[in-house]
Amino acid sequence: MCGIVGILGQHEVAPMLVEALKRLEYRGYDSAGIATVNEGVLGRRRAIGKLVNLSDLLVHEPLAGKSGIGHTRWATHGAPTLVNTHPHRAGAVAVVHNGIIENYRDLRAELAEVGIAYQTETDTETVALLAQHHLESGMSPIEAARATLAKLEGAYALAFLFDGEPDLMIAARKGSPLAIGHGEGEVYVGSDAIALAPMTDRITYLEEGDCAILSRSEVTIIDADGQTVQREARTIRIDAARIDKAGHKHFMSKEIAEQPTVISETLASYIAPDASDIILPGDGIDFASINRITMASCGTAYYACLTAKYWFEQLAGLPVEVDFASEFRYRTPPVTEGTAALFVSQSGETADTLAALRYCAPLAQTILAVTNVPESSIARESDLNMPIHAGVEIGVASTKAFTCQLTVLLLLALKAAHARGRLTDEGFKAKLASLRSLPATFNQAMSIEETVRGVALRISQSRDVLFLGRGRMFPLALEGALKLKEISYIHAEAYASGELKHGPIALVDEQMPVVVIAPRDALFDKTVSNMQEVMARGGKVILITDAAGAKTASDGVWQTIIMPDIDDDLAPILYAIPVQFLAYHAAVAKGTDVDQPRNLAKSVTVE
Ligand code: G6P
Repeated sequence: MCGIVGILGQHEVAPMLVEALKRLEYRGYDSAGIATVNEGVLGRRRAIGKLVNLSDLLVHEPLAGKSGIGHTRWATHGAPTLVNTHPHRAGAVAVVHNGIIENYRDLRAELAEVGIAYQTETDTETVALLAQHHLESGMSPIEAARATLAKLEGAYALAFLFDGEPDLMIAARKGSPLAIGHGEGEVYVGSDAIALAPMTDRITYLEEGDCAILSRSEVTIIDADGQTVQREARTIRIDAARIDKAGHKHFMSKEIAEQPTVISETLASYIAPDASDIILPGDGIDFASINRITMASCGTAYYACLTAKYWFEQLAGLPVEVDFASEFRYRTPPVTEGTAALFVSQSGETADTLAALRYCAPLAQTILAVTNVPESSIARESDLNMPIHAGVEIGVASTKAFTCQLTVLLLLALKAAHARGRLTDEGFKAKLASLRSLPATFNQAMSIEETVRGVALRISQSRDVLFLGRGRMFPLALEGALKLKEISYIHAEAYASGELKHGPIALVDEQMPVVVIAPRDALFDKTVSNMQEVMARGGKVILITDAAGAKTASDGVWQTIIMPDIDDDLAPILYAIPVQFLAYHAAVAKGTDVDQPRNLAKSVTVE
């Protein structure tokens, strides 16, 4: 987490740094700061809270200079106070950092032995102190930075700026992503290409262990072995304009509304024009040679994987195991022959997911990725990346990326089912036809917003909410509870309906709203029985179902939300709409910060 940026420019860089940081705020928004070199002199401005506070500060206390670095923080070490805000400075060195320096305590102790004291609670300050110490011992800035990097353990994307050096910036990457942007007589670094999009689309991605020595006219990259290397500069397609709210009050609302469009783009990119096949990138996957799928992801992407487990097992007959990437990576799970390892990640940079991928890389038959950022580490390190084509997602609570992930995973499961002879040609084509009508059904379902808003207003006063689902609706119940928690701060839990009576039913009373997600599928009657158990104890049931379900089971239900009819396999995608609206409108009713909820960040690049 944290976003970093650096510019060696031809013009004043403070406004450019702030604009780039705006695009990185999804990585954290606890505090922000910039440092520049102006007429050879290093200066900095920092403010706690959102980036807007730094912008306001710069109006009153401008910072001149044509070279600079900037940072937006998600606090790991030390509270979000001014003293802990980046850039960190020691003498002639300023540094911004994304990641965690794991040996910072040892480094502090070493520095203390030579009389150097720390001022902040951060791990990053030790980087600046160490570099300054090296400068004082007679090293040049480049030598000092490299000697410092050699001492660091953990994960980092770092940018260094030096007093008296207006044409020098040093950037380094280990474990956290870093891109170099090439302009006309200018050079940039950023945590991602989106940050640099207003300035350039010519990007070089640093590899693990790379250190880049940058001037306006030259970029030298030294790899982990100390060799000077060439890294390809690519032209990246990023629609810089797609970062506004398009008339919506929040990015989340815009992103919910975009789903019919982006899902249709996702489908169009995989389904053959004559709707007879699913075309996978590159050489595709030989599903006949695979006997198991293992998946590891985090957050919403993990729930997308859980849903996919039902699809792969039921449609394609492939055994699937799913785990949190943070658990998977340290469990040393055996990866047996014929295993495809699949990693789902919106950002493609989540540290735990990337580590799980790297664990599987030498063991699995093939590494598959489903990401929203084709240039991301997870996409680049997979054998086959399937982009979800959701477009840039700004709201921290994932919405359109989730439904696009589900769409790609269902396509993959159908492809596997067909390839493994579990679906006939006719059956396969029929599924593709229903998938192609999904965007239209999504559009239709958007009309439930007002009904859901009414329900959300009522539950916004609740302390706790339960979500129940059975079968493929269980992961969606988990996602619904997560959405509500993360943006409205209402405590929510999700259970598989059948588990209710094994404990959570003790929570049910007249105050407890219970959201039951139950299209009229093969498991409907079972879920309705569990719903009756809730109502028998006074629980206030919100039933999300279709017209047939509402007709048979609405009696005694507190609120019913009726969805359009949909093929059972597609229901987990469509039924995301009401749970997204529920969380969104509950959060709006509570007046929370919908797009940037407290304590969270969109891209989690630390473990
Ligand atoms: C963070 C975000 C979630 C996201 C999760 C995984 O927690 O707030 O919205 O689901 O990371 O991120 P990824 O980029 O790997 O999908």
